[in-house]
Amino acid sequence: MLKDSIQSLMAQVNGIKANNAEELEALRIKYLSKKGEITALFNEFRNVPADQKRELGQMLNQLRQQTEERINELKEQFEAKQAEADKLDLTRTPDPIALGTRHPLSLVKEEIVDIFSRIGFTVAEGPEVEDDKHVYGMLNFAPEHPARDMQDTFFVEKEIGVQKPTDVLLRSHTSSVQTRVMTSQKPPIRVLCPGRVYRNEAISARAHCFFHQVEGLYIDKNVSFADLREALLYFSKEMFGAETKIRLRPSYFPFTEPSAEMDISCNICGGTGCSFCKGTGWVEILGCGMVDPNVLEACGIDSKEYSGYAFGMGVERITNLKYRVKDLRLFSENDVRFLKQFESC
Ligand code: DAH
Repeated sequence: MLKDSIQSLMAQVNGIKANNAEELEALRIKYLSKKGEITALFNEFRNVPADQKRELGQMLNQLRQQTEERINELKEQFEAKQAEADKLDLTRTPDPIALGTRHPLSLVKEEIVDIFSRIGFTVAEGPEVEDDKHVYGMLNFAPEHPARDMQDTFFVEKEIGVQKPTDVLLRSHTSSVQTRVMTSQKPPIRVLCPGRVYRNEAISARAHCFFHQVEGLYIDKNVSFADLREALLYFSKEMFGAETKIRLRPSYFPFTEPSAEMDISCNICGGTGCSFCKGTGWVEILGCGMVDPNVLEACGIDSKEYSGYAFGMGVERITNLKYRVKDLRLFSENDVRFLKQFESC
């Protein structure tokens, strides 16, 4: 029946959708072209009995009109979209891409590595979960040394929840990498060992249970304390400025003999005395010394043929001096307001 066909097409036509101008043109052809479905109904209309012509004729005209209107409406929408797209300025400079920032500790670590690499040091790394031998034993720590105490060192339980004496621990200094390098390489050795270390400390502005160190080690024939001093003076000037002075004070570490602690002239007041250097004009930045012959021997290096120096510094300490970060906790809180301040560094 023609009436049914008109009604069903009417329902279809009201809901027609097209994703683009091509699809719309296909719809126009489907319904309105010479061979289109609506045109076909007009052909059928010729055979309709006279008494139905009036009603069906009106319906058919309405169908054609609605179809045309719907198609025109969609066409206008596409044209409007196209006009909008044509307005795009493809030559416009794009908005800047937001880049992440490097962490201040990484920046400083990289700078330390970079400075020492210019005098021949390469980087060596070692595990953070270590054993007693590499962290203490081979480094000449006496069996009863307090660093081995639970108060200072985190020990790793071999069985979860079972606290048995164990020699697996989180390294408390990067000097452990010295022993790993010396047992696996032959002199001459010239390495820098950056990394994270752990100590059993209550967290506060001035102490943390983990922090970062860079260890240096140089083993060769005839290495002297004067070589150590020269290398450290060069480093200090590169890091803190050409006017920087250094001073070495006698100290003690089990793995070096003689040992020293090194101060630099306070880079905040220039050495005249301020609250940062507590009025002394000097700030301590590292420990160092000549590698103890016992350590060389424990690592299989002939201490009569070779000598060497070592030094170790805290990356947080150097960062504090360079960027005045007062609270150590800022380094691990990942507050973007803090980290963003290093964007241009
Ligand atoms: N390992 C020492 C510490 O954690 C730092 C240190 C001092 C390293 C003297 C050295 C050194 O290599 O010679 O406090």
